[in-house]
Amino acid sequence: MERIVTLSLFVLCACGSGSTQNANTQQRHRMAMMEERGHADKVSVKRHRLYMHGGLPAEYAGKSNPYKPTPELVKRGEEIYMQHCKACHGEKGKGNGPDASGLDPRPSDLSFVMPRHIATDEYLFWTISEGGKLIGSAMPSFKDILSEKDRWAVILYLRERFGGNR
Ligand code: HEC
Repeated sequence: MERIVTLSLFVLCACGSGSTQNANTQQRHRMAMMEERGHADKVSVKRHRLYMHGGLPAEYAGKSNPYKPTPELVKRGEEIYMQHCKACHGEKGKGNGPDASGLDPRPSDLSFVMPRHIATDEYLFWTISEGGKLIGSAMPSFKDILSEKDRWAVILYLRERFGGNR
């Protein structure tokens, strides 16, 4: 319990000082931090820290999915997942695809991450677009590989499959 309180205070301070983030964002970040406790093997801890401490580039901040989850787009997202993501994140999103072995940090368990507070549209779109260069991970950057629409389509698919629709 004491750790939870300390962590929350830390996040409050880190996000509150001189930043333009609103109360909702701070609340979401606090929840996200608590949710990931004890699950460092499933989530991208370095990426979460970067995001929560203001690391989101301006071009991604506040972005939300402009597309609705029509059956066609979700299907398109599924095709993209199978072609571009499954090798690392695995058929069931668990982070254990054939290309995952030996990667450090390891690919996240997307079935765990998607229903959680961290998985906002802006966070996912940034992650998929820019990849893991900033934090030294093997997560590829897809902004030159997939169109914006395809990047949003894979996000629609992930939400449909693993939850976290909001
Ligand atoms: C070469 C392996 C690889 C491929 C291919 C790959 N990823 Fe990743 N991904 C990673 C690794 C490693 C991480 C953890 C480190 C990081 O966040 O960069 C990660 C992290 C993520 C995260 C952050 C999850 C969290 O813990 O918050 C998301 C979301 C994600 N990937 C989605 C995708 C999607 C969608 C695709 C396909 C379009 C994809 N990845 C393809 C390796 C991969």
